[in-house]
Amino acid sequence: MSFTDHIANGYRRRFDELRASNNPLADGIACVDGEYLPVYEARIPLLDQGFLKSDLTYDVPAIWDGRFFRLDDHLDRLERGCELLRLKSPMPREEIKNRLVEMAALSGIRDGYVMIVVTRGLRYLRQYAPEDCTNFCYLMLTPYVWVMDLEMQKAGGQAIIARTVRRTPPGAIDPTVKNLQWGDFTRGLLEARDRGAVYPILTDGDTNITEGSGFNVMLVKDRKIYTPRKGVLEGVTRKTVMELAEQLGFPCTVDDVPVQMVYDCDELFMVTTAGGVMPITYLDGKPIGDGKVGPITQTLWKAYWDAHYDPALSFAIDYR
Ligand SMILES: Cc1ncc(COP(=O)(O)O)c(C=O)c1O
Repeated sequence: MSFTDHIANGYRRRFDELRASNNPLADGIACVDGEYLPVYEARIPLLDQGFLKSDLTYDVPAIWDGRFFRLDDHLDRLERGCELLRLKSPMPREEIKNRLVEMAALSGIRDGYVMIVVTRGLRYLRQYAPEDCTNFCYLMLTPYVWVMDLEMQKAGGQAIIARTVRRTPPGAIDPTVKNLQWGDFTRGLLEARDRGAVYPILTDGDTNITEGSGFNVMLVKDRKIYTPRKGVLEGVTRKTVMELAEQLGFPCTVDDVPVQMVYDCDELFMVTTAGGVMPITYLDGKPIGDGKVGPITQTLWKAYWDAHYDPALSFAIDYR
């Protein structure tokens, strides 16, 4: 059995158990204004400037097999984003952590996708100073989300280098502050679909790649790993993969990555919390290497999922 099957079987088993539990929170749980409710019933106030102006930041940690993975790294990034946007979560960090653990226990979700969103709240910055705004913090936990499902991961996905849209420049929207201003990615997703692919990789408007719709991009050339330096979110998955790669003897370089280098690479993969290490085997309709999932991608894939049981990176949730 391949390692992908091993992961898939464990995931399906836990998911089947969850569905069989008939828990009304099994499809997801939200925390709005301190109240817990089924995620499909959760509502946000229409006047929240997070909704009206995308005046917010957020983060997405994950739960895998009943363990939170790198939660503190995600909360560090969230806090940095809040500081830069002059937002202050009304829920302190410890409370966020405790509530997320409580939400996992209440829902029974053992493989979960978590969203923590801090918004400006009801007041618009044109009229009010940031210190006069009461910010909101929304929490949400749903069953795990796969940017590329496990079946597709076996053969690898199809990506494009987007031609009709570039990544929004960092001088306009700081990509290191996690945001939901997805206009560029949405256009990229539409183009990918038109061109028979699924995943758009956006350029910096010049000759380098940046990232894609919710994922960082990494490539392998001559047993070395490369990933873009600027114009991207500094992903927790990318950081994890780089740490593991270095331990496994594959040096990593964070620098400009020209488009041509992507066309010429040996292996290509996307990385994100929602899906982990996901191989891309076709780019712009042409195979990467021999068009099969490469050996280094497979090694990192396995190392990434194994790391979810490392107590230095994860902790077990008490479901009682
Ligand atoms: C634009 C973008 N880049 C990269 C990532 C990957 O970040 P992480 O590995 O921290 O999930 C995400 C995650 O959602 C993202 O939205």
